Amino acid sequence: MTIERMKELIDLLNEANYNYYVLDNPTITDQEYDKYLRELINIELAHPEWQQEDSPTNHVGGQVIDTFQKVTHDIPMLSLSNVFNEQEIRAFDERIKKEGIYPEYMCELKIDGLSMSLRYKQGKLVTGATRGDGVTGEDITHNVKTIKTVPLKLKKPVDIEVRGEIYMSKKILEELNEKRKANNEPLLQNARNAAAGSVRQLDSKIAASRKLDCWIYHLPNPEDYGIKTHSEAIDYMKELGLKTNPCNRLVQDVEGILDFINYYHVHRKELPYDIDGVVIKVNSIAEQKKLGYTAKYPKWATAYKFPAEEVLTKLKDIIFTVGRTGQITPNAVLEPVLVAGSTISRATLHNEDYVKAKDLRIGDIVSIRKAGDVIPEVVEAKVERRTGEEKEFQMIKKCPICGDFLYKKEGQVDYYCMNPKCPKIHIEGLIHFVSRHAMNIDGLGDRIIEDFFNLKFISSIIDIYHLDRHRDALTELEGYGEKSIDNFLTAIENSKKNSLERLLFGLGIPNIGEKTAKMLASRYETLDHLREASFEELTNIPDIGPIIAKSLVDYFAKEENCQLIEQLKEIGVNMTYTGPKVEQNENFFGKTFVVTGTLETLTRDEIEEKISTLGGKASSSVSKKTSAVIVGSNPGSKYDKAQALGIPIWTEQDFLEKINS
Ligand code: IVH
Repeated sequence: MTIERMKELIDLLNEANYNYYVLDNPTITDQEYDKYLRELINIELAHPEWQQEDSPTNHVGGQVIDTFQKVTHDIPMLSLSNVFNEQEIRAFDERIKKEGIYPEYMCELKIDGLSMSLRYKQGKLVTGATRGDGVTGEDITHNVKTIKTVPLKLKKPVDIEVRGEIYMSKKILEELNEKRKANNEPLLQNARNAAAGSVRQLDSKIAASRKLDCWIYHLPNPEDYGIKTHSEAIDYMKELGLKTNPCNRLVQDVEGILDFINYYHVHRKELPYDIDGVVIKVNSIAEQKKLGYTAKYPKWATAYKFPAEEVLTKLKDIIFTVGRTGQITPNAVLEPVLVAGSTISRATLHNEDYVKAKDLRIGDIVSIRKAGDVIPEVVEAKVERRTGEEKEFQMIKKCPICGDFLYKKEGQVDYYCMNPKCPKIHIEGLIHFVSRHAMNIDGLGDRIIEDFFNLKFISSIIDIYHLDRHRDALTELEGYGEKSIDNFLTAIENSKKNSLERLLFGLGIPNIGEKTAKMLASRYETLDHLREASFEELTNIPDIGPIIAKSLVDYFAKEENCQLIEQLKEIGVNMTYTGPKVEQNENFFGKTFVVTGTLETLTRDEIEEKISTLGGKASSSVSKKTSAVIVGSNPGSKYDKAQALGIPIWTEQDFLEKINS
C-alpha cells in the first residue's frame, strides 16, 4: 500500500473509464476494473490523507451540500437565437454575408439538456456550474463529479474552462420512469426536466443514481490556446479527454446546413438521446469576432428548432369521461402511436365546441402532436383521407355513468352531470382528496380508490379514515399485499397532520384551486374562522371574486358538508394552517406574476410557492393586470405578449434579488 500505487490505480481506472464511457471502447474487463477499484478503495480507506481530487471514487457521489453557492461566469454564458424554417436559416446566412463574410459553418446537434461550465486548473476539475442567468450560475461540482464522462483530470495539465450540455439518455429516462411508475411516483415528462432536476440535488448520491451524461461543445476563450477555428477547439477538447459529439459536421454553405438538418429530421429518432434542433456556428474564430454579439446572443450562431413532431393515426372512437365536478369531457381513442418518445392512445378533446370546430369524425385519420412536447393533442382531421364511412360526432345528452340528463350553464361550453349521487363524481372526488397536491396520501392510486368504492369500503371522504377498520378484509382481496395495505394506512394516518390548505383544496369545493386554498388557509388560519366569513368579507379579499365567495358560502351552508368537517375534526384531522407565514414583501404582496420558460435554479412550483408566501399570486396567463413576467430560457408566447403589453420582465436572477430585498 503506497501512495505511488494509489496514483497508478487512479490513472489506470481513469483511463479505463475514458475508454469505456467516452470512446465507447472498453480496454479492460469489468472484473479487472472492479478488482482495481476495490484495491483503490482499500488504500483510500486506510489512508484518507492521501485522497486525490481526481480519484474515480469521486464519481460515485456521497458529498452532500447545504446550499448551492453562486458562481460568476468570467465570460457570460449566452443563449442562442432561434430559427424555425428554411427561410429563416437563409436570412441568418444572408445577414452574415452582408458583413462580407462567406463562412464555413459547423453544424451540431442541439442537445435537449441543460448547459454547464466546467473549470479545470492544472488539468484537475475544480468547478462545475449551471448557466443560471448567464452571468451567475450555481456551483454543482458535487453532482457534476458523478457524471462518468466528465473527466476529473484532463490528459494535459491545463487551466481551461469548457462548456457543454448535461443530459439524460432516453434509455435511462425510460428506466427511471419504469421504477417511478412501480412506486406510484409522478413520471418525469422529458429528459431535460429529468437532467435539470438531477443536478439540483443537494445529495450527490441521488445525482449519481440518475446516470447523467454530457457533450462538450464550447470553448469560451479559444485564442488563449492559439486556436483559430471552432472545429479546432472541438478537436483540442477531445484531445484533453472531454466528450465531444461525433455527429458535428463542417459544411461550406447554407445548402450544407439544410442537408444536415434534413438528415437529423429523419434520423433523430435513432439517437440514444433527445435533441430539439440543430446549432449552426460560424467556424472561424476571427469571423466570429467580427460578427460579434447582441445583448443576449452571439450573431455568429443560431439554433434551428425542430417543429413539434406530428404523427398520423386513426381516431377509433370518442368516449366521454365524468370529472370531479361532474364536467363531461370528450376523449379521443386513438390507434396507439409513438409520438416524441411515448405511445399515445388517448387525447383530451376538451368539449363539444372543440370537436365541432375541428370537425373530427370517428374513423378519421388525424394528426397528433405533443403540445409543449408533453400533452398529446389532436391537431386536425385529414379530410382528404375520408372514405365516407366516418361517423359524425354527436354530443351525448345523458351522463355515461348514471344516465342522468346533462346540463350546460349559460354562456359556458361544458356539459355537467348534476346528479349528486353519480358514482363517478364521488370516485373522482375521493381521488382528488388523496391526490398529491391535496392530502397527498401515498399508495392510494386511482384504481385502488375505484376498487374500494365499488367494493363499498369507501363511499365518502370520512370512510378513507376508517379503512383501518377493514384491514383484515382488505388483506383478503386479490392483488393487495399486507405491506402495501399497511403503507397506505400509515399514509392515511400521517395525512391527519397536514396543514389546512391541503384539506381545504382536497374537499373539492367548486372553484377553490390549490392557490386559493393556500391563500385562504394562511389568511384565516383555521377552518372554523373561514367558515364564519361572510360573502362580503370574502369578496373584500384581493383575488376573491363573487364566484369563489359564493362557492365557499354555499359549501359551508350545506348540512352534510358541516357534518363531514365535524367528523374529520373528531378523528383528529388537523384544521389549522401550519405553513409559512405570509411575509408581505412589498415587491410581491397583492401582485400577480406569470412564470414562463425553462428556469435554471428553481422549479416552477418553487417559484410559485415563494410568490404565494410573499403575499403574491401566480397566474398562468399574461394580461394587463400582470405585475411582472418571470422569464427562463426558451420562453414562448407569454414573453412576447408581456413585451407587447409593456409588462416588466424579470429574469430568475431579478426574482431572487427581489425576494431578498
Ligand atoms: S452553443 C455561445 N451548442 O442550447 C454558444 N448550445 O438555446 C453557446 N445547446 O444554452 C451555446 N446543444 O444549453 C451550443 N451543440 C450545442 C448545443 C447548445 C444544446 C443548448 C445550450 C444553450 C441553448 C441555447
